[in-house]
Amino acid sequence: MENKEAKEIILTGDRPTGPLHLGHYVGSLKNRVLLQDKPGHTSYIMIADQQALTDNADNPKKVVENVIEVALDYMACGLDPKKSTIFIQSQIPALPELTVYYLNLVTVNRLKRNPTVKAEIQQKAFGQSIPTGFFVYPISQAADITAFKASLVPVGDDQRPMLEQTREIVHSFNQIYGKGKDILTMPDILLAKEGQGRIPGIDGNAKMSKSLGNAIYLKDSMDVVKKKVMSMYTDPNHIRVEDPGQIEGNMVFTYLDIFAEGDPLVAEMKEHYQRGGLGDVKVKRYLIDILDSVLTPIREKRLALAKDPAAVLEMLKVGSERARKTADATLQEVRQAIGVNYFG
Ligand code: TRP
Repeated sequence: MENKEAKEIILTGDRPTGPLHLGHYVGSLKNRVLLQDKPGHTSYIMIADQQALTDNADNPKKVVENVIEVALDYMACGLDPKKSTIFIQSQIPALPELTVYYLNLVTVNRLKRNPTVKAEIQQKAFGQSIPTGFFVYPISQAADITAFKASLVPVGDDQRPMLEQTREIVHSFNQIYGKGKDILTMPDILLAKEGQGRIPGIDGNAKMSKSLGNAIYLKDSMDVVKKKVMSMYTDPNHIRVEDPGQIEGNMVFTYLDIFAEGDPLVAEMKEHYQRGGLGDVKVKRYLIDILDSVLTPIREKRLALAKDPAAVLEMLKVGSERARKTADATLQEVRQAIGVNYFG
């Protein structure tokens, strides 16, 4: 355990089903940018196109087109391909092979208990028609994590069940095939700072998500951001400016707590709002200014990078080649541990 801080392997990723939003930024991207600069840390950032296909099989175009979008969001936020290996999941054939071995270590009943998958099945209204690939994606996620021997997985709170599933697989695998040796690395989850792991949608829904239509995107123009903030869910009973208002469950204050933490003006506005006499529009204007200072540098960098899509693709190619080598090496160890390395 000593000196564990000094040598972590980081792996995380996102499904390319749309451009990334503030939820991704707060829950994970900010963290990743800090981690890639830590001495001794190795970072792998994966664009999970295969996982995105598990519920978009009939719309591959959407997934494929968003690979570049996500890569642009990554780099705009400060992920640097010189410091982090940024790669595409489908370009790593070791991942589905590892998945096949891991599938045997997990029961159908165990998969049915995954709360995140359960919630997604509801939200996507699959009914009785759950795609098998979707149902087992937590197992393929264990392959993503273990292929790189990741020790630390920075993700949002909703990914906690995936980490638990991965840890169970690592435990079973090592027990059955390790003969006393740890073949696979036990990963730990790395959540964002307390209270900042998740940002609700602008409508007050607990989750910001593309499918709920309640997201602020990293690439949104300032005009769009303004409109979205102006439409934010506040206190429905705060009708006249003089009325006392509620700050709990009020998205404008929730966002200010995240993006203007410790700002004395926010504390003052909260007090004023609760007392009565402070209108929503004033608070919203302040939030717009704060978001402007966060999003404008990201948007400008993104616009510059988007001018050369070929360079982005080349960066992904180099990253995928590097990732493939690492994952192949782990796969060889796994094959050997099971004994299916017949020809040496
Ligand atoms: N499930 C993650 C998401 O929906 C994406 C993902 C795929 C991932 N494989 C991963 C995250 C491995 C962390 C580690 O955002």
